[in-house]
Amino acid sequence: MRHRIGFYGAGNMAQAIIAGLVASNIYKKEEIFVYNHRYEPTLQEVEKKYGIQAVIDEKELFEQTDVVILAVKPAILLQILPRIKAYLQEEHLLVSIAAGISIQQIAELTGPHKIIRAMPNTPAMVNEAMTSISPNEVVSDKQIQTVVDIFNKFGKAKVVSEEVIDAVVGVSGSAPAYVYLFIEALADGAVAEGLSRGDAYEFASQAVLGAAKMVAETGKHPAELKDMVTSPKGTTIAAVQSLEESNFRASVMKAVQAAANKNREMSKED
Ligand SMILES: NC(=O)c1ccc[n+]([C@@H]2O[C@H](COP(=O)([O-])OP(=O)(O)OC[C@H]3O[C@@H](n4cnc5c(N)ncnc54)[C@H](OP(=O)(O)O)[C@@H]3O)[C@@H](O)[C@H]2O)c1
Repeated sequence: MRHRIGFYGAGNMAQAIIAGLVASNIYKKEEIFVYNHRYEPTLQEVEKKYGIQAVIDEKELFEQTDVVILAVKPAILLQILPRIKAYLQEEHLLVSIAAGISIQQIAELTGPHKIIRAMPNTPAMVNEAMTSISPNEVVSDKQIQTVVDIFNKFGKAKVVSEEVIDAVVGVSGSAPAYVYLFIEALADGAVAEGLSRGDAYEFASQAVLGAAKMVAETGKHPAELKDMVTSPKGTTIAAVQSLEESNFRASVMKAVQAAANKNREMSKED
């Protein structure tokens, strides 16, 4: 069965997903619908840029589609769910990307439906997102695969239980910010040693990109890759020793847990 994909919201995340989907050609432009609460300026821009179907009647979005990606801010999602409940049919699969809103919260407001909670991160904008996909028990394997295929179009998607969502926030959702800090610090060090600011960011970001690819593509343990580049009495082991003396790894572990804890707390507050 061919699906018809709907987006509720036309903001940054919706556009990142739409861009990946349109570029991949797995769905025709006539099979992708986007709704926004007002036409100008965003919906108009999205319609023009991607040539997909723009709708300003939310009922129409649900009439035209069977997979609906809910891409509004968490507070807005909680406001709209009781309203869109009236439009939901058995075939609808809801995919929420709202941070901090659980499947149970969504089900309490919509009734028992097929629901997937997805957690992408901002590198979606450059087709390098990491997204967790957590379905409830009524979503079929085929439907899960449909959603994984969509999110794989602008990065990588993996199915995990919703129970580990706090860890996902810590390790990928919030992680781009820590990596930006690391890149900035790398570049600052290089500037202190005489490299120009522009060159320093270029060298630092490419070094991080390359190292990440080494981990992702060689399948080697990060420690093995580290061992491969630390020659006896060399420059790299001197830097590694300095980082270890500053509790680098413990600091990063604590940061991941701080993000996870914060997400846990925020989910309880809702
Ligand atoms: N950005 C990220 O890195 C990231 C990562 C993971 C998850 N998320 C989640 O993705 C969701 C969307 O984030 P975003 O960054 O794409 O936000 P965004 O750019 O602000 O987009 C939000 C969309 O919601 C629309 N909207 C605003 N008020 C509305 C209302 N009252 N009724 C209906 N629609 C309304 C906005 O339309 P107008 O602009 O026309 O008002 C816009 O199209 C959030 O739940 C966030 O938690 C984001």
